[in-house]
Amino acid sequence: MKKLVLPDAIRALGGDFTFGVATSSFQIEGARELRLDCIWDTFCEQQDTILDQSNGDTACDHYSLWEQDLSMLIELGVDAYRFSIAWPRVVGKDGTLNEVGIQFYENILNFLKQHGKQAFITLYHWDLPQHLEDEGGWLSRDTAYAFADYVGLVVNRLGDQADAYITLNEPFCSGYLGYEIGVHAPGQKNQKAGRQANHILLLAHGLAMQKIRQHAPSVPAGIVLNIHPSYPDSASSADQRAAQMASDYLFHWYLTPILTGSYPALLENLPCDVQPEVVTGDMDIISGKIDFLGLNYYTRAVYRSTNDGWFEEVERNDYPKTEMGWEITPHAFTDLLIGLHQRYVLPPIYITENGAAMADQLESGKVVDVQRIDYFQTHLNALADAIEAGVDIRGYFAWSLMDNFEWALGYSKRFGVVYVDYVTQDRILKDSALAYRDMLYSRS
Ligand code: FCB
Repeated sequence: MKKLVLPDAIRALGGDFTFGVATSSFQIEGARELRLDCIWDTFCEQQDTILDQSNGDTACDHYSLWEQDLSMLIELGVDAYRFSIAWPRVVGKDGTLNEVGIQFYENILNFLKQHGKQAFITLYHWDLPQHLEDEGGWLSRDTAYAFADYVGLVVNRLGDQADAYITLNEPFCSGYLGYEIGVHAPGQKNQKAGRQANHILLLAHGLAMQKIRQHAPSVPAGIVLNIHPSYPDSASSADQRAAQMASDYLFHWYLTPILTGSYPALLENLPCDVQPEVVTGDMDIISGKIDFLGLNYYTRAVYRSTNDGWFEEVERNDYPKTEMGWEITPHAFTDLLIGLHQRYVLPPIYITENGAAMADQLESGKVVDVQRIDYFQTHLNALADAIEAGVDIRGYFAWSLMDNFEWALGYSKRFGVVYVDYVTQDRILKDSALAYRDMLYSRS
């Protein structure tokens, strides 16, 4: 079996570097009947939204199988588990805590604690309660306040049982994919809506941070952003500008306000009627101190300039690709981390997701996913390069613990280190899980 080798720069950090695996509620839990509907339930019911017409009703049935799944995670020897709480499972329409729902997560926390594992809790991984979407969703300031109320209730209850709180996972996906280009729930296609949703999401993050400080002042808290570093399609100045604009519009749009309290200058180039409605005081709330920044990295993106001076993504085939059609570009991971370190005063960074969908084949009870092992190896090496260059990186979470509902692509893409048979709900550790485990045990 192919092995994973722990790079020296990471080994040298010893216990100061956390290894984990990540999941999210809607993608694995199922048990839809035990929670309120969320925007992804509704989106899945619409025509032509999900590649295989599937939904999250059952998913990996983790709601029933959580103990078995967590035992598997313990076996892997990780230090930490990053999972998300489903807002529609823990808060009723009347805004009160649902005891059955919150107990599910308390059981997970207790289990992790008993085994000496850390819990990184994501408070929003895209499952907005549908009744809030019906009242305006992420276009309405009320949703930001409703989110803060939900976070207040949850953090008041769970307090320092968590080792880290993450407000939002990838507001780019919620705001841009969900409201601007409509490939994610709730499926709106409107530039103004996208920019507005981004702003409300950032506001929700800032308000939630205040609640976390209030109820769990000793627990580190931050946000998770996804980033696909932007490269120009050619050396022309137009393409270089296009790549820069794409990067500001799709990534720094989130990071710059959080770290500096203002949007990238590109905002002023947008027509007034697509700019978000920013109220006095919002930027102060958004830029409250975070203790860490979570980054999800999968691939790079290439852009060229359009005739109207905007940018468009170009499909390139310079590197091998994963089953997502994403180029495998570990060097871009290093460049990205070093570039951010040079541009901003960064808080400590956690890589909160990294991984690959591959064409896994289950044969004689085994999944020999050599390419996924290679992906992890080259990206861990890239991370080690960034650490050697002085970037303060504290941890790495593989996406994902197990195969799951990959949003608009349904169950057609497998990201897990554990294979899930969706008919029997059997779990089979892929070779990548065994390689990850062996690498983690090699630390002691
Ligand atoms: C990220 C999401 C995660 C998963 C991976 C592949 O954007 O946070 O839920 O879908 O991509």
